[in-house]
Amino acid sequence: MKEIFKRRSIRKYSKLPISDSDIENLLRAAMAAPSAGNQQPWEFILIEDKNILADITKVHPYSQMLKEAQLAIVVCADLDKEKLSGYWVQDCSAATENILIESQYLGLGSVWLGVYPREDRVKGIKELLNLPVRVLPLSIVSLGYPAEKKEPSNRYDKSRIHINKW
Ligand SMILES: Cc1cc2nc3c(=O)[nH]c(=O)nc-3n(C[C@H](O)[C@H](O)[C@H](O)COP(=O)(O)O)c2cc1C
Repeated sequence: MKEIFKRRSIRKYSKLPISDSDIENLLRAAMAAPSAGNQQPWEFILIEDKNILADITKVHPYSQMLKEAQLAIVVCADLDKEKLSGYWVQDCSAATENILIESQYLGLGSVWLGVYPREDRVKGIKELLNLPVRVLPLSIVSLGYPAEKKEPSNRYDKSRIHINKW
């Protein structure tokens, strides 16, 4: 649980590369996520190529940290893999959050970059990464060893809790 409570968005990274075994662990965590009817509609694109990372910053306005990142994982859904229509966003969000928590466990820094439902970002990423028509990008996780430190943020708010009825 301490990974969940310590996690913050990290947007500055050192030049240390991420090992292949850590990358595998990030993807194992992603694919351990729950999904509607266990449909697992996700597909993951790993990007280490600095030119492609820089190209993403041209189609996603809030992704400038990718210029320093060692790795980006683009979390996509293959709509042909959906058995229960419409749940792909929740499935791929659960996978994205698992990557963030695993990255915290591994001592990496990461930040979730939202793509879907912003149409311009979806279109830009689809074109840039040659995604088939049936594949939609939900998010991008930017990763690297942290070059900034952030304190945990306590957002526990009792007023948001409703017992039995609103
Ligand atoms: C759906 C979603 C989309 C986000 N998109 C971006 C983004 O495009 N760029 C960015 O720098 N951070 C993005 N974030 C990170 C949030 O800004 C961040 O999680 C929030 O400010 C809380 O801070 P914390 O993650 O450090 O706890 C996104 C987070 C979520 C969940």
